[in-house]
Amino acid sequence: MDLFENDLFASQDEQQVSIADGAMLLRHFVQQQKNASLNEAVLLADLNYILENSSLRQMITPGGFTMSVAMTNCGALGWVSDRKGYRYTTLDPSTGLPWQPMPASFLALASATAAQAGYADFVPDACLINQYQPATRMSLHQDKDEQDFSQPIVSVSLGVPAIFLFGGAKRTDVTRKILLQHGDVIVWGGKTRLNYHGVTPLKADSHAAFGACRVNLTFRKAA
Ligand code: SIN
Ligand code: FE2
Repeated sequence: MDLFENDLFASQDEQQVSIADGAMLLRHFVQQQKNASLNEAVLLADLNYILENSSLRQMITPGGFTMSVAMTNCGALGWVSDRKGYRYTTLDPSTGLPWQPMPASFLALASATAAQAGYADFVPDACLINQYQPATRMSLHQDKDEQDFSQPIVSVSLGVPAIFLFGGAKRTDVTRKILLQHGDVIVWGGKTRLNYHGVTPLKADSHAAFGACRVNLTFRKAA
């Protein structure tokens, strides 16, 4: 699997990998959940419902570029970008209506993974849903549009695998490559809360439930 030969953690079998002080990878966490209210089938059904009832759209950066990844949100707040900047809104700009509510399965997954990584009582109010088609990518950035940096970021990977880049507090810091597969969750906060991160261009692949795509759920406490 030379595609992932640079993945620092590819050779490890551990379910739970510490990436840095404050950052943790929880492998295949989604598939391990077997509760009636939180399991893979319920999560995927809840995701499908949201995607059927809101539209994925490619947002425009403040600098005027069209993002390659298509996005929507659920929860009380949704992250948006346009020529005016990055921010959270209570209404979906494409409809003028509130974002879809955050499903109980999403909340349960976010809280459980944050707790597992050492962040008790994480209750997200925003879930950004990113859809990656083949060759799309997310350039290095910090998540810093939230009010309270004591709250972590919980990032859930679904569908086709991707290489996640996890850097440091400065854009120029060295980045580590981390293979993220279906059901993997990365949680980062504490000293790493403002670390730069991104995703390399998605390789052609296929997944039974997601086809050629990868979907990422990013849970945040925005307000
Ligand atoms: C993001 O940082 O917004 C997305 C990360 C990912 O897709 O894994
Ligand atoms: Fe991010």
